[in-house]
Amino acid sequence: MVLIAPSVLSADFANLGRDVDMVMKAGADMIHFDVMDGHFVPNISIGVPVLESLRKATDAFLDVHLMVSTPEKYIETFAKSGADMLTVHFESEGDVNGQIELIKSLNKKVGVAIKPATPAKHVFHLLEQLDVIMVMSVEPGFGGQKFNPFSLLKIKELKDEITRLGLNTKIEVDGGINKTNAGSVIEAGAEILVAGSAVFKADDPAEAVQAIKGASPHIIL
Ligand code: DX5
Ligand code: ZN
Repeated sequence: MVLIAPSVLSADFANLGRDVDMVMKAGADMIHFDVMDGHFVPNISIGVPVLESLRKATDAFLDVHLMVSTPEKYIETFAKSGADMLTVHFESEGDVNGQIELIKSLNKKVGVAIKPATPAKHVFHLLEQLDVIMVMSVEPGFGGQKFNPFSLLKIKELKDEITRLGLNTKIEVDGGINKTNAGSVIEAGAEILVAGSAVFKADDPAEAVQAIKGASPHIIL
């Protein structure tokens, strides 16, 4: 079953609790929370105080995507501030194995994300340790960008390797997902679909959640 994770990066931050409740009632499975440090990516978004407030406002599973240069400095704080899953970037500084171990030791689900230029095979050796491998289908840093179809190939390569190894690791895809391309990422093997602008900028966000979640697998290439 495909899960949908609306990204609050495109929500109305003055009404964040309301927006999260709305998408959860509409059938969202988790909330995607984008943390940007202005260094790993050329943008600054939200951090610990917002996560703490959101944690108090919702029981939803909070999927925290750390787009920061030095994740190990922040993992513990985000874990204690209400994250249910922490995803670090393979391209960040530091020892990714150590970061994975730290997240697990805090009893959180663990993910690793790869940017568009990072080949899937660079993370094959990590798959066994992960709950989620996240394929970025845009360059991280901004919502509202166009989906890069090259990510379909990477999703397929990761799916084949996960199957070959007999693992339960899920593939998450993040960037430019909408109801038109959702079927193709599902067909390629993605099981968690992040969608920011396609949900929160839609005239009817509840309908958008349902349309993305209900997309049937198909090939657009
Ligand atoms: C981009 C973020 C995404 C973003 C997705 O750097 O990691 O999670 O919010 O937004 P859309 O769906 O608008 O591309
Ligand atoms: Zn994200």
